[in-house]
Amino acid sequence: MADAADSKSADLKSYGFKSHQPHHLLMCNRNTRSRVFLLYLKEIHIFSDYVYNNQEVYYFLGFKIHMEKRIIKFSPPDIGEDEIKEVCEAMRSGWITTGPRTKLLERRLAAYIETGRADYDTESEADRWSNRVVCLNSATAAEELNLRILGVGEGDEVIVPAYTYSASASAAVHCGATIRFVDIQKDGDPKTHMPEMDYDKLAEAITEKTKAVVCVDLAGIVCDYEKVFSVVESKKSLFTPKESDGTPLSDFSSRIQKALGRVAVVSDCAHGLGGSRMFRGEKKNCGALADFTGFSFHAVKNFTTAEGGAATWKQIPGIENSEIYKFFQLLSLHGQNKDALAKTKVGAWEYDIIGPWYKCNMTDIMAAIGLRQLDRYPGLLKRREEIIAKYDAVCDELGISHLYHHVPGIDSSNHLYLMRIPGIHEEERNELIVKLSEMGVNTNVHYKPLPMMTAYKSLGFDIKDFPNSFNYYENLITLPLHTLLTDEDVEYICAALKSVMRDGKEC
Ligand SMILES: Cc1ncc(COP(=O)(O)O)c(C=O)c1O
Repeated sequence: MADAADSKSADLKSYGFKSHQPHHLLMCNRNTRSRVFLLYLKEIHIFSDYVYNNQEVYYFLGFKIHMEKRIIKFSPPDIGEDEIKEVCEAMRSGWITTGPRTKLLERRLAAYIETGRADYDTESEADRWSNRVVCLNSATAAEELNLRILGVGEGDEVIVPAYTYSASASAAVHCGATIRFVDIQKDGDPKTHMPEMDYDKLAEAITEKTKAVVCVDLAGIVCDYEKVFSVVESKKSLFTPKESDGTPLSDFSSRIQKALGRVAVVSDCAHGLGGSRMFRGEKKNCGALADFTGFSFHAVKNFTTAEGGAATWKQIPGIENSEIYKFFQLLSLHGQNKDALAKTKVGAWEYDIIGPWYKCNMTDIMAAIGLRQLDRYPGLLKRREEIIAKYDAVCDELGISHLYHHVPGIDSSNHLYLMRIPGIHEEERNELIVKLSEMGVNTNVHYKPLPMMTAYKSLGFDIKDFPNSFNYYENLITLPLHTLLTDEDVEYICAALKSVMRDGKEC
C-alpha cells in the first residue's frame, strides 16, 4: 500500500473529495467511528475499505492516510509582531504607565468610533480634552465610571437584561444601586436572533427610581437603540433628576441628569467595537449610540490590550466634553487633579485630591498593543465575517438556529457565534459540548443567565421569572470564532459539528 500522507489531498481529489475533506476523517475516533463512517457512506458512496487503529491511521481505497486530530482553542488572542514591537518600544521609552500612547489610542479610538476628531496630535493641551474616549483597565471599570458620572447611587434603580455577563449588572451594584432584571424577547430579536431585552418589559420596569438602563450589544450585534430611546422618552414624566449634595462630582452628575431629563441609556458594548446600526436614519457606530458606552479590550475580545477597556459618550447639550473627560480622569486616578504626565511639566509637581476615588487607568504598555491592533482591526473584522458565513452555511444545512450578524441596517462586530440546537435541553447541550471537545473543538456558552448565578440568586432573583432567558440558554453553544483559525480549522469545526449532530440523531 502506498503511504499517501503527503499527497493525500491530491489522491483523494481524484475520488471526488475536495482538498479539505480528508479532515472529516479525523472524526473517526473510537467513540464515534461507526457513525461517522455511516455518514460518509451515505454522503460519498465511495468507501471501499478502511481500517482503524489507535495511531489514527486510516486506509482509504488502499491508500494509507495519517490523520492529525486538531485542537481548536476557543478564543486565543491574535497578537502579531507589530504589537510585540510596539510594546518593546513602550518599555524602552521610559514611559510605561498612562502617557502618550494611551492618549494617542484614545484619540484614534474616538476617530474610529466617530465620537472625536481624526486628529492624532498628542502634544496640544487644548486637543487633549477634545475627544470623547477615555481608556481604562477594563470594561467593568468603564461601566462603573459611566454610572458614577451619571450620579447613580443608593436608592436608584438600574435596569439590566437578565441575559448577560455579570459586569453589566455588577457595575450598578458597586455604585450602591438596585438592579431590576428584564427578560429577553422570546428566541431573541426576530431579525438577528440576538438575546435582546424585551422592550415592552423594559417600559414596564421603569419607575420613579430608575436612573439608567443598560443595553448589551451581545456578540457584537447592536441593540435597537431607537426603540430604547423611545421607551425612555415615553417615561420622562417619571424621571426626577438628582439634586447636588454640594460635592464636585454630585454637582456635575446633577447637571448631567438635568440636561438629559430622562433615564440614561448606557451601553455595555464589551463585545461591540466596530459594530454599527441605523439610528434615526443615520448609520452610527457602537459608542455613538447610547448616552454612555463601555468597551472591553480583554484578552478574548476582537480587539485586545490584554486587559483594558474604554468609555465614550454622546454629546450632552450644555455639558462640555472636556468636563466629562476630566471627571473620568479624576475617577480613574484617585481623584487626583493631575496625572503623571501632567506632573512632568516644569514645576508642576503639586496636585490636589478632589475625591477618594478609584484606580483603573490604562497603561502605555497596554495602549501599545491597542495601537497596533487598531491598525489591523478592519482586516480582523473581515476575517471574522468570513468565518461566520461558513458557520451560517453549516448551521442552515443542519437546521440549527444561529445569530444573524449582518442584516439590513445592522452590522455586527462579529464577536461571538451563538447557535441554538432545536429540541434539546441543558443536559443534551452539555453532552454535545463534551463530544465536540473530545474532537478537539473547544466551545462555550454565552451566557448562563444572571438569575441562575449564586450572587444574583442571593439578591432574590429567580430564573423562573425569566423564562425566555432560560429557554435561550438551555440549547445554546458558542463556536470558536477568532482570527487565528485557518480555513482548514473552520472546515474541521464544521465537520465536527455535522458529526455530533448526526451522531445524536442516530442514537
Ligand atoms: C457582556 C460583557 N460585559 C462586560 C464584560 C467585562 O469586560 P472586562 O473584562 O473588560 O471588564 C464582559 C467580559 O467578558 C462581557 O462579556
